Amino acid sequence: ASGSRVMNGQHPQKLVIAVLPGDGIGPEVTAAAVRTLQALGLEAEYTEHNIGWAQWCERGEPLPQATIDAVRAADATLLGAITSKTEREAQAELAPELQGRGLRYRSPIVRLRQQLDLYACLRPARTPPGIDTPHDDVDLLVVRENTEGLYAGVEAYLGEVGPQTQQLAAFDAHFGSRFAGRGEVAATVRIISALACERIARFAFEQAARRGETHVVLADKPNVMRATGAVFVDAARRVADDFANIELVIENVDATAMLIAQSPQRYGVIVADNLFGDILSDVAAGVTGGPGLAASANIGPDAAVFEPVHGSAPDIAGTGSANPIACLRAAAMLAEQLQQPAIARAIDAGIDEVLSAGRVRTPDLGGNATTDQLTDAIIEAALAADPA
Ligand code: IPM
Ligand code: MG
Repeated sequence: ASGSRVMNGQHPQKLVIAVLPGDGIGPEVTAAAVRTLQALGLEAEYTEHNIGWAQWCERGEPLPQATIDAVRAADATLLGAITSKTEREAQAELAPELQGRGLRYRSPIVRLRQQLDLYACLRPARTPPGIDTPHDDVDLLVVRENTEGLYAGVEAYLGEVGPQTQQLAAFDAHFGSRFAGRGEVAATVRIISALACERIARFAFEQAARRGETHVVLADKPNVMRATGAVFVDAARRVADDFANIELVIENVDATAMLIAQSPQRYGVIVADNLFGDILSDVAAGVTGGPGLAASANIGPDAAVFEPVHGSAPDIAGTGSANPIACLRAAAMLAEQLQQPAIARAIDAGIDEVLSAGRVRTPDLGGNATTDQLTDAIIEAALAADPA
């Protein structure tokens, strides 16, 4: 449904923006983002829905069906942050009446991406003004495949390994029966399909075309993970054939990670599978001001979810000191998706203006402003940038 209603003729229905505050600082930063969107005139109905750790503890389900339905029905969704803990803690914190029923915690954001087929994860990393970072002039975009790879959820605790699969048995034999009688063995399978690779590669090339890039880097490990790597590389080559002016460059992901740390200016658009994209986008965020500033979009054919890259920061939750900038950047990406580019640009300009002035900063940026004070300053600067 993303964006479609805006263009529906002369009497567009009111946009619906679903807000999923989640845990920890999630409610504080999403409230700041909604306030900013409203101040800039993004007219929409903002509806709130449950997700996260509290839902798990109380109901044994961190991602209620009603929330999935609301995200599907909305024009766009803003997600705050979600707390995840170990399996042991998950079981211990579950309501007593739900314990012992075999309920298992699985990251609700990963499930949301898969269930709604939010296959493209966009993670831009730009050098922020006014902040001390190791490199200037970074402007790259990680395009992460969001539905399969090692996140596919195809996992097994093999326990006592017998001849479950020939390959496992062969591996075991090669190392002299290392599995036998020596405790647990588990497998997590990397699923890579040509369909998912082709559409994520196409998304990456389209983004590259929009940005005027000369090439797209595919970061993977095809020299080691030969079967899955070949599927990804071949799919990307087929897509590259449709883009005469954009070259496909295949890199080994370890080298890409090092080069992002060392000379990130060399990169424009990087496409990667789910886990490699997760890691590379953190490296890229790390060299452009850290997680307090980084935002991401999860986009699929029927829904789009925007979120800060940071976690729920339970240590500072409720203190009113969380940095709202990552969530405001996510709100800017949301406005862009809803075909409100002027609002998106104004938010980004407001953030840049306040960061370079350096007067109003939350504690993570070395200041003592509150979430609300920083949000107010950004709204004021954004309105000055775009008085419309
Ligand atoms: C991210 C996060 C998530 C992921 C976690 C919270 C499941 O690290 O969005 O990058 O691994 O995708
Ligand atoms: Mg991550």
